[in-house]
Amino acid sequence: MRAADMDEMIKQEAWLRANAGPRYLQFSRHLSQLIKSGVLAAEASLPSEREMAQISDMSRVTIRKAIEVLVADKLVVQRRGSGTFVAPRIQKLEHSLSRLTSFTEDMLRRGKSSSSEVIASGLFTPSPEEIVALGLRSGELVARIERLRRADGVPLAIERSSLPRDILPDPSVVTTSLYDVLDKTNCRPERAIQRISASLLSDENARLLEAETGAPALKIARTGYLPTGRVIEFTTGIYRGDAYDFVAELQT
Ligand code: GLP
Repeated sequence: MRAADMDEMIKQEAWLRANAGPRYLQFSRHLSQLIKSGVLAAEASLPSEREMAQISDMSRVTIRKAIEVLVADKLVVQRRGSGTFVAPRIQKLEHSLSRLTSFTEDMLRRGKSSSSEVIASGLFTPSPEEIVALGLRSGELVARIERLRRADGVPLAIERSSLPRDILPDPSVVTTSLYDVLDKTNCRPERAIQRISASLLSDENARLLEAETGAPALKIARTGYLPTGRVIEFTTGIYRGDAYDFVAELQT
């Protein structure tokens, strides 16, 4: 947007009405509408407090209070030393519920690049949950991989996958796509049951996903089967609730 247009939007005449409540609230409501309608684009930088005060002929205190409302509503972000910006828009990704696809494939279909950061991997003594989910025999070790999954560089999910040791004897070979590795040994699941539930981000998951502790999340647990009926994957994913959507196609 041109600086002159921005000035026009900030001037009192653009938003101040008689008997319409405190000035700072009127101004923050005005900016909020401009952001929500897209007139002020995501990541656009706003003039400084001093400049806005000058253009609108309001006090800096009024401007500051208005901006505080927008910060609290997460419509703008303040970056120390560089100013105030319209908050980046997190695009929701839709996922079809009926296809058994990998994270990498899902992202590719949406024209996004995906990446995996391995947080931990190795062979471990299985937990009671893993023994039941994977039908492991006593004394059998389990292969685990914990990954932070990104789409176009933005952290989207944390996935913790467990597989029987004979299916994935060396978990360190999984650096990007798990299903690519399983494909090579003809062990890619052919069918899966997926359970989705609502959840809130724990401290640790919030840190990894660059979100706030307690923010809404989706927990997705997938049990994957070989054509023989054997369970070969048990994965729990924590997805950022503001970035992921599941879509189911329903037919009569
Ligand atoms: C999805 C599934 C996981 C599966 C993963 C494999 O995210 N929810 O259960 O393990 O895809 O993806 P990739 O092959 O990219 O590692």
